[in-house]
Amino acid sequence: MCSIASFGIWSEMMLMQSLVMHAYRHRYDSEHVAYALTEIADECRHSVMFGRMVRTCGLRTHRPRALEYQAAKLVGAVYDPMPMFAGTLVVEEFTDAFQRLTFPDEDIQPMIRQVTRIHVIEEARHIKYAREELKRLVANASPLRRRAAALGLAQLTRMMAGQVVHPSCYEAVGLDPRLARRVAARSPHRRATMTWAFRKCTAFFDEVGFLDGRARDVWVRAGLLEGN
Ligand SMILES: [Fe+2]
Ligand SMILES: [Fe+2]
Repeated sequence: MCSIASFGIWSEMMLMQSLVMHAYRHRYDSEHVAYALTEIADECRHSVMFGRMVRTCGLRTHRPRALEYQAAKLVGAVYDPMPMFAGTLVVEEFTDAFQRLTFPDEDIQPMIRQVTRIHVIEEARHIKYAREELKRLVANASPLRRRAAALGLAQLTRMMAGQVVHPSCYEAVGLDPRLARRVAARSPHRRATMTWAFRKCTAFFDEVGFLDGRARDVWVRAGLLEGN
């Protein structure tokens, strides 16, 4: 759970950065900017909440592995709203799927339930916003540009999905992290769980043409979508 929270903070940092770039380029008194700024404020509180949750659990947050940590800095250097809103959906929809199982479950630790409940309520707005924006952007983009963005996004998703469980978690329970990671990557249970968690996101991407051709192959090979 604390590993997922660390992953959450990492991805929220990237999202906040992109949303600032987005707001910067629009008229500052517009509803559009008001919405982006509100979402930044939400994500800002979530990251503080996750950090406190991890500390309350007696643990510390961790960064992703060095390569992914450095590569993700590039996200902050490029402004492109289409992959930005699609990337928002990737992270928000799949964590949402897990959190919707977490907060109603009475066997789960009460603080964790409360944190996931707060997060689900606020993320529902963000998901709606990202879906609407993506639909609008795709409608105005050429098929070539859409397919390029979809392929880039598929690769980003594969990279991100590999970061949710940090190698140190395997170590903490006495497993060899390299071997455990390899086994997990091939596990049919993992594939079934991830395709389930991504089902709403992939259904929507299919609808807007974000799962065409090569992008779809990347999703399937990453174990995040069932191949036909
Ligand atoms: Fe959030
Ligand atoms: Fe969000």
